[in-house]
Amino acid sequence: MLSEKDFIAVNYTSFVQNGSFEWSAPSNIALVKYWGKKENQIPANPSVSFTLNNCKTITKLKFEKKENNGAFSFDLLFEGQPKPDFRPKIEKFLQRTEQYLPFLKEYHFVIDTQNTFPHSSGIASSASGMAALAMNFMSLEKQLNPQMDDAYFYAKASFLARLGSGSACRSVKGNVVVWGEHRDFTESTNLYGVEFPYVLHNNFKNYQDTILLVDKGEKQVSSTVGHELMHGHPFAQQRFAQAHENLSKLKDALASGDLDAFIKITESEALTLHSMMMTSMPYFILMKPNTLEIINRIWKFRNETNIPVCFTLDAGANVHVLYPENDKVKVLEFIKNELVAYCQNSQYICDEIGNGAQQIA
Ligand code: DP6
Repeated sequence: MLSEKDFIAVNYTSFVQNGSFEWSAPSNIALVKYWGKKENQIPANPSVSFTLNNCKTITKLKFEKKENNGAFSFDLLFEGQPKPDFRPKIEKFLQRTEQYLPFLKEYHFVIDTQNTFPHSSGIASSASGMAALAMNFMSLEKQLNPQMDDAYFYAKASFLARLGSGSACRSVKGNVVVWGEHRDFTESTNLYGVEFPYVLHNNFKNYQDTILLVDKGEKQVSSTVGHELMHGHPFAQQRFAQAHENLSKLKDALASGDLDAFIKITESEALTLHSMMMTSMPYFILMKPNTLEIINRIWKFRNETNIPVCFTLDAGANVHVLYPENDKVKVLEFIKNELVAYCQNSQYICDEIGNGAQQIA
């Protein structure tokens, strides 16, 4: 396991004048949720997620050596157009990562980014976006230090992505990623995500995630504000302890293929996340009436058919419908017949478990 000190770069052996890289990084969906954090993006509890396959950010990084005049210098393009709203996030990422990437002020960067999913669909792009950016900076660091090995490359990419957005550290690798210290995972750390170290049961192979877009509006509460509300939250300590227990149980379910246990833990985690929001001060509700309609219909369908379909939620109204690949035809038919009516403009996105960030040649 690597420590924070290991990520402080040593002297670089190569000189790089200019160039470009391009990486895609996927979104991920947490099963055991990260909600609450300490200083420096350290999670209050461990979490685990499925890496997705289709919902991705694709980012190209161009760089050209400049004088180090003590300032960051970058142009930011989103779908080919300048995007001033995104600049503060990038500026913050550069500030937080500079001590680990000492070359950041020595280059002018052009960051050219796009998502494969519709803009403002309510799908968080910070995880995939920060992960794609971190991959590009690691490619540049590897050019400056060519003897870097792959294990270090990916661990540091996840470490940097975490500094941009906590859950982004789970978007570097696939297909199940654990982030945060937990007794059952000897290699787990608060600093970066690690691949699930047990054999994933065949029941979860190509596991499906159909994302129902219930409400595409701007989030009422950013996750950063949400995490803060766990400080002094009356149920915080019990919640953090519960996340540890749920991760242990989920580990067993993922390895044994126990779909009943998987469903119970996953749905309970989603509802607990929203319960934390409803019981913080200030309190808030991010589910919409249609979120509840969908949940009830999923439960009814599952009871009537015995098909092991379940849901999870992130910090919003959209519903992730999770199910085995074997049941794809029947579940998609159910979604089209019964659930799409509750989606904004009938929109949904078909995704599945995936392999993590990829370099584009
Ligand atoms: C509900 O990673 O978006 O999706 O670290 O402040 O950027 P920051 O928060 P973020 O929080 C994600 C919260 C969540 C649960 C999860 O993905 O584990």
